[in-house]
Amino acid sequence: MTESWATSFGVDLHLELADGGLRSGLMDALREAIRTGRLTPGTRLPSSRSLAADLGIARNTVADAYGELVAEGWLTARQGSGTRVAQRAAPRKAAAPAAPRSRPARRRPQYSLMPGTPDLGTFPRAEWLRAARRALTAAPNEAFGYGDPSGRVELRTVLADYLARARGVHAHPDRIVICSGFAHGLMLMAQVLRARRAREVAVESYGLDVHWSLLTERGLRTRALPLDELGTDTRGLDREGAVLLTAAHQFPIGVPLHPDRRSAVVDWARATGGLVLEDDYDGEFRYDRQPVGALQGLDPEHVVYLGTASKSLAPGLRLAWMVVPDGLVAEVLAAKGAMDWVCGTPDQLTLAEFIASGAYDRHVRGIRLRYRRRRDQLVEALAAASPETAVSGIAAGMHALVELPGGMERPVVQAAAWQGLAVEGLARYRHGTAPGAGRDALVVGYGTPPESAWHGALDALCRALP
Ligand SMILES: Cc1ncc(COP(=O)(O)O)c(C=O)c1O
Repeated sequence: MTESWATSFGVDLHLELADGGLRSGLMDALREAIRTGRLTPGTRLPSSRSLAADLGIARNTVADAYGELVAEGWLTARQGSGTRVAQRAAPRKAAAPAAPRSRPARRRPQYSLMPGTPDLGTFPRAEWLRAARRALTAAPNEAFGYGDPSGRVELRTVLADYLARARGVHAHPDRIVICSGFAHGLMLMAQVLRARRAREVAVESYGLDVHWSLLTERGLRTRALPLDELGTDTRGLDREGAVLLTAAHQFPIGVPLHPDRRSAVVDWARATGGLVLEDDYDGEFRYDRQPVGALQGLDPEHVVYLGTASKSLAPGLRLAWMVVPDGLVAEVLAAKGAMDWVCGTPDQLTLAEFIASGAYDRHVRGIRLRYRRRRDQLVEALAAASPETAVSGIAAGMHALVELPGGMERPVVQAAAWQGLAVEGLARYRHGTAPGAGRDALVVGYGTPPESAWHGALDALCRALP
């Protein structure tokens, strides 16, 4: 995934700051970005408050650096229009005859609205460090040895409580297995299914190809089920070993699975002995008043629930959890033990403390508000810029589906690239066996950009729309 400018800029600055002062490091980095053309004349810079928040430095430091660069002529500052790169800031290059161009030069993506990643600047560093200090201080020595493949009991215990309270999951610590991301949990389930002689897993018409590949690489065929406005239609399920569903918020279309279909898929599992693999990747982020609980609550003996910290905290943690039917725990642990892929115990203990102390709930509430605000701004900006454009899938999560007229998906993704914006079209997420016609749409990951780049990304998106 392409990094947004502000994020990569933050990393550059961080390296610079190690050698010199914060202010001079920031000024050097800004001058360099202007000199090399990464920041073009007229570009509006983030406010000192949001850049300071992204870089984790004092606002005054940013304000001082901006002030000096204005004095040097690199930037301009005007009441009401913020701080911008000065029109003639970059030293003029020796004039080379300009080749006639039929369209503007394609810019390196400055912004990203690619779905899949939360705003990494929201990672609660200070609270996480406090939780780590408390957890590691209290940890017994044995916690630093080779771990139990099911994961630390401290984490499984608080998760059982949290998942029951927040997601309606029937969870006992003995039925929870900690894994290294949803992807790892899915790999384990593929291994279990193969050992049970399953050949095929039904999947949704739209999803992530990396997940389908994890199944096929382990000898399981995938076949897509139809999808309509009620969610995935599971009536065509037959003797598949399992069905993989994003029931609370279909990825990436965004519909929740209709209650009748939730019951129907559980009935299928009971009748055939098949398993429902529930990918609850963004269940914490629901914005309307009707919470959509986990499907697992309907039948914990036939549903394997998979949750992850990748959206609510950060994908880099590689921490996730499975809640497994009683009769399946031993098989999952055998698969996990065989891989010798135990997640690091210090992070498990820290997450346990983070949840138990209430910091996780506070963090989720805080970022839920932030994403909700962005979602509202997205809907508002699109309505103003392109009134015909429908936005859907917005009741939850951190991405939205922006519907496009037929045939417009590729041109709009291309137009976004000219605007310096990386964004993904829906076709990228369609399974090869999906029935029916595809739709033209963008999958807009509004959770992705850092706060300082959010408005720039939104403007670029609006400019790219027909
Ligand atoms: C549909 C879906 N499922 C699961 C995940 C989480 O995957 P992991 O926990 O492996 O990071 C994501 C993250 O992007 C996702 O989009």
